[in-house]
Amino acid sequence: MKKLRALVVGLGRIGWDFHIPSIVNNKGFELVAVVDPLKERTDEAEQKFGCRPFLNLEEALEKEKPDLTVIASPTKFHAEQTITAFRHGSDVFCDKPMAVFYQEAQDMADAMKKYGRKFMMYQPRRISADFMLLKQILAEDLIGPVFMIKRATSNYERRNDWQAFLKNGGGMLNNYGAHYVDQVLNIAGSKAVKMDCQLRVAASLGDAEDVVKVIIETENGILIDVDINQAAAITLPEWYIFGKYGAMKWENGAWRVRYYNPAELKDVKTQDGLAASSRAYGNGEAIPWKEKAVSTAETVPVDYYDKCYEYYALGDLPFVDVNESMEVMRVLKICREKAGIKLYPQE
Ligand SMILES: NC(=O)c1ccc[n+]([C@@H]2O[C@H](COP(=O)([O-])OP(=O)(O)OC[C@H]3O[C@@H](n4cnc5c(N)ncnc54)[C@H](O)[C@@H]3O)[C@@H](O)[C@H]2O)c1
Repeated sequence: MKKLRALVVGLGRIGWDFHIPSIVNNKGFELVAVVDPLKERTDEAEQKFGCRPFLNLEEALEKEKPDLTVIASPTKFHAEQTITAFRHGSDVFCDKPMAVFYQEAQDMADAMKKYGRKFMMYQPRRISADFMLLKQILAEDLIGPVFMIKRATSNYERRNDWQAFLKNGGGMLNNYGAHYVDQVLNIAGSKAVKMDCQLRVAASLGDAEDVVKVIIETENGILIDVDINQAAAITLPEWYIFGKYGAMKWENGAWRVRYYNPAELKDVKTQDGLAASSRAYGNGEAIPWKEKAVSTAETVPVDYYDKCYEYYALGDLPFVDVNESMEVMRVLKICREKAGIKLYPQE
């Protein structure tokens, strides 16, 4: 088995806690080098994993010539570092969000083509148990055509890290929006045609939004409602999916599915005239509801780095296509415009 020689850029929460352990524990990869401006962090990596430490990306790329560069630095460096890696002949695996603003993402996609390299985003919510299970259940077509998706994530945090500040490319639209907009568009299987958005700073100690409301209508007519609320003293339900013949709700680690088989419905005649028959509310029919709860015990965990290996080493299709990531970036850009916020001069 060919081992991909990997360089990890950014040794913070996600770089150190997820990417490095995933690489060293996956037989398809070899951690050859790391880059971080904090020497104590690169030293720590060298001591622990025997990889080469660098404070500078260009130097690391020139000396190590990695097959794969993993970008886990703060978001404002993603575009420049991705393009630099492509220029040095390396493929790139990039943490979300793809970039701070849309034009940067476009430059990354253009550079991918120009240098003939591979690029994929790390979107861990694509392999979370709730999401994988949701896709399995939807494939059974129990609830009929989906017309509405409601997705929410909420907690209460007086955010004080770099993600709390606009100058760093922070804010919860980019940060969590990159997860949840990606999820809902993937479920809808369609592009966004109409969007609206409101952003607020509520509990955060920075100037970037910690409350986000996004409404999307997709080309295939699905209405999507996304709440990201880091100032929620009482939390919101995480998922509802509404279909013509039923609905699903994520609760207590399982999907509750309530649905009926339309073939089992009795005929209901429509009424003529403007006087409701017998002064009755409703049509009196008993819908033959079925209920089931599907728990995550029924999902098989996926190793994201196995998906990376399949794409970067074996030539399979990417687990997350760059066009889907560009669509997420386009939606986030329009959301900022709709919220009346011009965060970045390039937009
Ligand atoms: N996929 C996920 O679930 C997930 C979770 C957390 C973070 N992220 C993303 O990963 C990225 C990093 O976030 P984090 O929470 O790990 O940040 P962090 O603050 O914990 O770590 C950032 C690291 O990058 C280093 N760094 C700073 N400037 C750099 C530069 N120019 N080049 C290389 N390294 C540099 C810092 O010294 C630090 O070690 C962000 O884009 C974030 O959105 C994704």
